[in-house]
Amino acid sequence: MADRHSDNPTLASLRFDGAPVIVTGAGSGIGRACCEVFADLGATVLGVDVDGSILEGIADTAIYGENAKAFVADVSSEEAVHSLAQQIAKDYSSIASVVNVAGTNDNTSFRSLKFDQWNRILATNLSSVFLMTREFLPMVERRRGSFVNIASTYGLVGVRNNTSYCTSKAGIINLTRQVATEVGSSGVRANSVCPGPTLTPRRQLSFDEGRSNRLEAEQRTLLGRMASPAEIARVVVFLASEAASYITGAAIVVDGGQTVFIGPHD
Ligand SMILES: NC(=O)c1ccc[n+]([C@@H]2O[C@H](COP(=O)([O-])OP(=O)(O)OC[C@H]3O[C@@H](n4cnc5c(N)ncnc54)[C@H](O)[C@@H]3O)[C@@H](O)[C@H]2O)c1
Repeated sequence: MADRHSDNPTLASLRFDGAPVIVTGAGSGIGRACCEVFADLGATVLGVDVDGSILEGIADTAIYGENAKAFVADVSSEEAVHSLAQQIAKDYSSIASVVNVAGTNDNTSFRSLKFDQWNRILATNLSSVFLMTREFLPMVERRRGSFVNIASTYGLVGVRNNTSYCTSKAGIINLTRQVATEVGSSGVRANSVCPGPTLTPRRQLSFDEGRSNRLEAEQRTLLGRMASPAEIARVVVFLASEAASYITGAAIVVDGGQTVFIGPHD
């Protein structure tokens, strides 16, 4: 009897069959997990990170797939993003998906926030998405591909001591809608993902240094736990794939119920 899964169109729509995808922030956390899930589904992973030392693993083709490549670039720099596109264009004329994960945060109170701190977070988290989208749009259009941008639940609500971060993430949500609005007619989709608390090296460091508390983060969700990076990555890769062919302009919340929960009442 023929295997009903071998040519199942639903499963096929999740597969990338060697198509190239770019992931920024690929060296750690959610970006690294995206690379792994893309590789599982047959994509050619092109991982980008500002920190070359943590990108070495991308060359491990056993994990990231046969043709995986690593690129060192600061995606907040217009010049670096332009040069990255030139390097990638030498080998690929089109890209199936660009996933913007690179980001950082700053827990400074609004009153003490310096202009250069504000500018750094906005450049790393938000301007990078603008630069990557503008630069790679022609290559993504050639495949009628998609963009997936990592925002945050912190882009949907206010959080003390997170002015620049929350503003940058809210900006990503509407920049994504704006891109979707302008590119939909060429068959290109753009969506953002709003993860809740996710156990990545960055979050672990903040627990270790006492800047935040793991139990509190867990108790703010309905599921009572943090997400693994893979739980976010699976949604990202679904949105990038043909399985999500009618989703565009959306902000998909993946937060274990964090944002629908305002806490117990007496
Ligand atoms: N971890 C969470 O709880 C959480 C929740 C919501 C949203 N997010 C978002 O998910 C993304 C990934 O977070 P993470 O927790 O995996 O962090 P992480 O620090 O583990 O990984 C971020 C990666 O981005 C890279 N990066 C930073 N600036 C860069 C730049 N200018 N150019 C290229 N690469 C750069 C870093 O080197 C690092 O490898 C971020 O955008 C973050 O805001 C994380």
